[in-house]
Amino acid sequence: MIEKIEKLMAEIEALQAASAEEAEALRIKYLSKKGEITALMNDFRSVPAEQKKEVGMRINQLKTAALDKINALKSQVACDSQKCACIDLTRSPYPIRLGTRHPLTIVRNEIVDIFSRLGFTLAEGPEVEDDWHVYSSMNFADDHPARDMQDTFFIESHPDIILRSHTSSVQARVMEKNQPPIRVICPGRVYRNEAISARAHCFFHQVEGLYIDKNVSFTDLKQVLLLFAQEMFGPDTKIRLRPSYFPFTEPSAEMDISCHLCGGKGCSFCKHTGWVEILGCGMVDPAVLEANGIDSSVYTGYAFGMGIERITNLKYQVKDLRMFSENDTRFLDEFVSAN
Ligand code: PHE
Repeated sequence: MIEKIEKLMAEIEALQAASAEEAEALRIKYLSKKGEITALMNDFRSVPAEQKKEVGMRINQLKTAALDKINALKSQVACDSQKCACIDLTRSPYPIRLGTRHPLTIVRNEIVDIFSRLGFTLAEGPEVEDDWHVYSSMNFADDHPARDMQDTFFIESHPDIILRSHTSSVQARVMEKNQPPIRVICPGRVYRNEAISARAHCFFHQVEGLYIDKNVSFTDLKQVLLLFAQEMFGPDTKIRLRPSYFPFTEPSAEMDISCHLCGGKGCSFCKHTGWVEILGCGMVDPAVLEANGIDSSVYTGYAFGMGIERITNLKYQVKDLRMFSENDTRFLDEFVSAN
């Protein structure tokens, strides 16, 4: 049996074919139902038990070698017969199809760019965070509902390790390593345990801003946000601040801009109010400064945070949040000129 296998192996190694038909004939000769290798496999039953292991292994090697060799012959003759037409070396590579930047990247860069011109530098932090940076250092009470399983993704078996649910964690990362003046802009991805729909997703993107120095006031915050809104949405854009609540800012506010689709007259987009909400902001709570090693009797600061998807929706009227992560090139190609 072994001799027979070796003889066939030598035969297989030496095989040649000049055409597709010849290669197919070889397949039939060796590997079809009545082929020589198939016959060997049938004879395998009569091999004595102590030789079965070795013979079985060799038959398998032979079969793989035959398959590889015959397939190689087939593709060689296919290529020969077309005189290698499968590679057209004369073809021009132009036009090269360029990719496009993702709309969220375009808008993120625009936001970062506007704030860089106002003196903010870029800061980033980890997406897998600990409870301290996301919640405790940001003045969230132990029983604050945002810590709940419904909002936060926990790493199994490590309840202290979570996926950050907002970029405010980067505020803590910056404060613990730097003393004021601090002026940073922190873009990044955040995660929340939400059912995926047109209006919500389990991950999205935010940009956080933080400014701490002596004598920073709410007026400074308002002015910087007005400049941002007018750079982003046009010089006629108006802003308004509504009182709100965040554990890490006091006082806190939410900011609306005049609806740039109807110019503030009221339309279905702004639900006929003339205003659309774009961000949360406020003066950094002294407790947050203290928790992060900054003397709140000397320094004050402001912070703001906005969703990049939200800003992108306002700029480009993307109706379904899921489109941002589906990678459908028909959607992405629409942003070619915005690059
Ligand atoms: N972290 C807040 C959120 O995710 C936004 C925010 C940031 C609000 C900074 C105020 C100041 O909703």
